[in-house]
Amino acid sequence: MSKKRKINPVLEAIMAAAPVEDAARQEYFIDVAHKEVLRLKETLQRDLTCCVNTFGCQMNARDSEKILGVLEKAGYVPSEDEHADFVIYNTCTVRENACNRVYGRLGYLSTLKKKNAAMKIALCGCMMQEEHVREKIHQSYPFVDLVFGTHNIYQFSELLVMALFCDYQVVEVIEGSDKIVEELPIVRKYAYKSGVNITFGCNNFCSYCIVPYVRGREKSREPKDILREIETLAADGVVEVMLLGQNVNSYGKGLKDPITFAQLLQEVEKIDGIERIRFMTSHPKDLSDELIEVMANSKKICRHLHLPVQSGSSRILKIMNRHYDREHYLNLVNKIREKLPDVALTTDIIVGFPGETEEDFLETLSLVKEVEYDSAFTFIYSKRSGTPAATMPDQVPEDVVKDRFDRLLKAVQEISEKKANVLEGQDVTVLVESVNEQDPNLVTGRLSNNSIVHFPGEKTLIGKFVTVHLDTCKGFYYLGTKVN
Ligand code: SAH
Ligand code: SF4
Ligand code: F3S
Repeated sequence: MSKKRKINPVLEAIMAAAPVEDAARQEYFIDVAHKEVLRLKETLQRDLTCCVNTFGCQMNARDSEKILGVLEKAGYVPSEDEHADFVIYNTCTVRENACNRVYGRLGYLSTLKKKNAAMKIALCGCMMQEEHVREKIHQSYPFVDLVFGTHNIYQFSELLVMALFCDYQVVEVIEGSDKIVEELPIVRKYAYKSGVNITFGCNNFCSYCIVPYVRGREKSREPKDILREIETLAADGVVEVMLLGQNVNSYGKGLKDPITFAQLLQEVEKIDGIERIRFMTSHPKDLSDELIEVMANSKKICRHLHLPVQSGSSRILKIMNRHYDREHYLNLVNKIREKLPDVALTTDIIVGFPGETEEDFLETLSLVKEVEYDSAFTFIYSKRSGTPAATMPDQVPEDVVKDRFDRLLKAVQEISEKKANVLEGQDVTVLVESVNEQDPNLVTGRLSNNSIVHFPGEKTLIGKFVTVHLDTCKGFYYLGTKVN
């Protein structure tokens, strides 16, 4: 299954005895890994530790929880940082700086490995789907023990065993897959909230974007599997779920019994114990009236819509292959605001797409001012090799892009500050998420519309809903007081 060199006879025997059926096979390998971890523990006279570091989006974060699930079952104890016996980076390649961050940290990992003979280093995630990346890892980072891709997560226990028994770089990357494997062990980062995959992959091929190439074609999970997972989460104390997909609005299309995203949401709403439902991401071309209606009638769906616009220029949107224009987007926003007056709208914007003129950029700026987003993620266009935009003429010079980026950021910030204080003085329901990082006397929670509030409170409030009076708005967050 990988670039096999010197076959270790112990590993050969382990592989030969492995069951063929997926679930049984992965259980078997978890068991083998566990025995090996116990043996190493005995030899080293200490626990074996692991560190899973996530780069990238919520999809990657969820995959990391599956990886940690396997590692903990195999007997590893999570460590605070990369001083660990098994370190894995779950990588992102959506923009070049995401990749550079990984390369930057690999040098550091090699110094840690020199001090710990038991240390294994693994790389997985979106970057590993790219052949030029795998080449580079092979040539320049030979100390990496294991490389695998986005479609191999379900085989992680098998790959872990290979890494434990091999002394060369194990590489396993499936190019694309229709397979959805259910029932992997998962260790959630938070006790009270969880991501839930509803689709994998993407079919949209926006011309700048690498995701469809590294995540494969769009596949929807069966509704019964999603609902069963959420019921189990609710039974385990989860009160908030985030339904995850690159384009949740196209959920259900390829299923044997197709259902819409809005219908799925109505089913999730019925699950006792789940109090808040979020989702990510909505593509404007597929956002239906049915969804707006379901949101308007829902008690649980949060008042937040992330609706990436990417550009305010219809000309650029066409070249981006987004399948909507400025007018369609603005009509959609109006419809949403009419039916959901309290919804917070957020977005993603790319500056400096090839051929973007000052006029195009001014259209983006004017759209931002017209929509008045609650917040916006702004990105400088990053050339991704293999995407159509990478070879388009008229790549915009760096200084021009930087200037536009700064102007956009300023506008976005001014608007968010203005919007943020609308709830000042109100009593709102807050889900408490953590103790405040700067001040241990404060806790931090989130409103339905995704705004953050800090207020005096105890650690015991984490995961609970409380009513908080929003005293003052500090730009990007509120300071409040708990109402009894
Ligand atoms: N599926 C989501 C987006 C996933 S990627 C959607 O379509 O909305 C998250 C964001 O990264 C995108 O919305 C886009 O704004 C940004 N992005 C993607 N490719 C990029 C690139 N090549 N350069 C800069 N930003 C990019
Ligand atoms: Fe990328 Fe477009 Fe798919 Fe989003 S919808 S992941 S931007 S190709
Ligand atoms: Fe990055 Fe992959 Fe997500 S490229 S944004 S981690 S799907």
